[in-house]
Amino acid sequence: MSSPESVKVHYIIRGGAAGRDRLKVLARIMRPAALELFQRAGLQPGMACLDVGCGSGDISFDLAQLAGPGGRAVGMDMDAIKVDLARGEASERKVSNVEFRACNICETDPEPEFDLVHARFLLTHLKDPLQALRKFREALQPGGIVVISDIDSRGYFSYPECPALHRYAELYTLVALRRGCDPNIGPRLPALLTEAGFENVQLNVVQPAETVSEFKIILPLTMESIGDAVVAEGLASQSEVDRLVVELSDFANTPGTLFSMPRVVEAWGYRPQD
Ligand SMILES: C[S@@+](CC[C@H](N)C(=O)[O-])C[C@H]1O[C@@H](n2cnc3c(N)ncnc32)[C@H](O)[C@@H]1O
Repeated sequence: MSSPESVKVHYIIRGGAAGRDRLKVLARIMRPAALELFQRAGLQPGMACLDVGCGSGDISFDLAQLAGPGGRAVGMDMDAIKVDLARGEASERKVSNVEFRACNICETDPEPEFDLVHARFLLTHLKDPLQALRKFREALQPGGIVVISDIDSRGYFSYPECPALHRYAELYTLVALRRGCDPNIGPRLPALLTEAGFENVQLNVVQPAETVSEFKIILPLTMESIGDAVVAEGLASQSEVDRLVVELSDFANTPGTLFSMPRVVEAWGYRPQD
């Protein structure tokens, strides 16, 4: 089993407070799709929900709101800084039915205390996503819902063509593969859910694309955030990383340009009644 330190070293995106700010932008881009997904999968008021790899906690707050006063949400992340910031936000916003736990999913032995387990953009970072899905199954009551969204990095596009975007996607893919993760895990999700013992597995594909600079800025932010891992793996020099960040920022800040997110596969299923 991996230690928390080895999992952190293996994780390719810079964490902490800067990582949380990037995830806040990501959460705003993905929110409409996430809310639709929860309705489709069957989230009901009164449910106990777990958000694994919760990052900024934005989805955990949405789950808490949708679960209502009779339900609750737990956000779990291995990054103690992000978890502390999310806890602070919960007390500032006086949200009493959300709780945040600093914890590595690979190190947990979950009890079946939840009606819904959600993970977005987490499995792509894990060496053994099937093991994580089996843990999600253990965390669910019989009949409970698992909801997963994850990326297929082959799907990026822009208008007009942006060479820096192609290089970013190439570096992201290479560094993820070097660290033993799957940057194109999205299409594998239905098969993985079935293998982990979920039934009635369903899927949907979404791909947000943005013309608003405030959202397009996610790409230079992500390039910057993977810079340490890219350089450590010898895939690019720091000066190339810096240049790509500038080129992506310039593109994002140019009116009329468009950046897409990666293709995102959403898959959901149900723990069989024992
Ligand atoms: C790409 S971010 C996605 C955050 C959030 N789910 C979202 O969609 O905005 C992945 C998050 O998973 C966390 N993470 C990565 N590996 C983890 C693990 N083994 N256990 C718990 N959290 C993990 C990271 O710290 C990071 O906050």
